[in-house]
Amino acid sequence: MDKLVIQGGVPLTGEVRVSGAKNAALPILCAALLTPGTLRLQNVPHLRDVTTTLTLLAQMGVDVSLDEKLGVGLTAAKLHNLSAPYELVKTMRASILVLGPMITRFGEARVSLPGGCAIGQRPVDLHIKGLQAMGAQIEIEQGYILAKAGRLKGTHIVLDLVTVTGTENLMMAAVLADGVTVLENAAREPEVIDLAECLNAMGARIKGAGSDVITIEGVDELHDATHRIMPDRIEIGTFLCAAAATGGNIKLKGTRANILDAVIGKLQEAGAHVEQGEDWIRLSTNGSLKAVSLRTAPFPAFPTDMQAQFMALNSVAQGTAVVTETIFENRFMHVQELRRLGASIEVEGNTAIVQGVSALQGANVMATDLRASASLVIAGLVARGETVVDRVYHLDRGYDCIEEKLGQLGARIKRAH
Ligand code: EPZ
Repeated sequence: MDKLVIQGGVPLTGEVRVSGAKNAALPILCAALLTPGTLRLQNVPHLRDVTTTLTLLAQMGVDVSLDEKLGVGLTAAKLHNLSAPYELVKTMRASILVLGPMITRFGEARVSLPGGCAIGQRPVDLHIKGLQAMGAQIEIEQGYILAKAGRLKGTHIVLDLVTVTGTENLMMAAVLADGVTVLENAAREPEVIDLAECLNAMGARIKGAGSDVITIEGVDELHDATHRIMPDRIEIGTFLCAAAATGGNIKLKGTRANILDAVIGKLQEAGAHVEQGEDWIRLSTNGSLKAVSLRTAPFPAFPTDMQAQFMALNSVAQGTAVVTETIFENRFMHVQELRRLGASIEVEGNTAIVQGVSALQGANVMATDLRASASLVIAGLVARGETVVDRVYHLDRGYDCIEEKLGQLGARIKRAH
């Protein structure tokens, strides 16, 4: 199992280019199922979850090609297997995103129920309820979702909870339905907008993506399109937190404005200096930062995917911060590992009280989930001495060449087997 070995105490400086967004790439890859045409994607991040999705699509019969610029071409002209098996789905919950496209294009689907994961139960009941409202007959048998449908019917759906992939699944199902579908209480994440833009380029008629009411007018068929995946706002936020925690000065290129304002606001509240342009962000700090309280919530509020990384920053800031996690029921797995590095954190239910300490000490720690791993890397970059982060396969699911990029910024980090 791979490990990352980090010698802490080096302020990050320099420039690095960020990759395409994992959480935009995954639904957009699945959107290829909606057309017999070819979907060409640029800026696809080189991640474990992307290769898992490509494997899933290829075993269904999607023709996958790679061009000389690592652009991905997908053609779902004829599929020989409308099934997403447990072996693949258990490694990546986002496989559920093939359900909507398969039902609406082929009238049937067999998708393994994604198990829970480290951060919570993560049911998919709202995906299923929405598809049933559009006319799909759905049974759950031996851990599989078995779905059958004629042409789905457009309808008015009010989502009980804000769900990102739920919104995405239902939006994709609606693009080929008969009539108009309205999704109320829809997720407003930038990745939902990116998916809608890709679908509209393929011939869909979607309005309102980015707001909490999305209207989709069904069409008969989608066609070829080319789409460039948006930048990964969580990778951006992770590097900004790492630069702030190490007292550094970095410039990120290939970013996009207005996709991470809540995190940037908190970094500025902590005392970091942030400037941004259309496709770049610079962060610098003049010494120690103030611990800043935060509460996660759906976009545009502070993203749950940045909670662990900001907690690492708070661990070495001055003062006390209250971190409240409102999206997932078990997203504090990084706390006990941060404590091993000397952090002072008390957890009460979905709230963590973080008391900044003057220094962390390097130690052996273990990654438990994707963003917890990022939090431990940030803490290791700050800690005195050597930190070894074990089980970095979690990190590889969602970060494209993280140690190379951090190395470019001066970090002393290497991968060991
Ligand atoms: C997406 O997961 C992201 N993944 C997650 O990123 C992110 O943390 C999450 O949205 C919240 O922003 C992708 O986009 C691939 P949800 P998703 O449905 O869609 C409950 C990362 O680190 N819920 O918005 O699975 C659910 O339990 C990952 O990159 C239901 O109860 O999250 C949770 O409490 C981690 N029933 C809340 O809603 C449902 O049918 C929000 O979950 C669906 C969701």
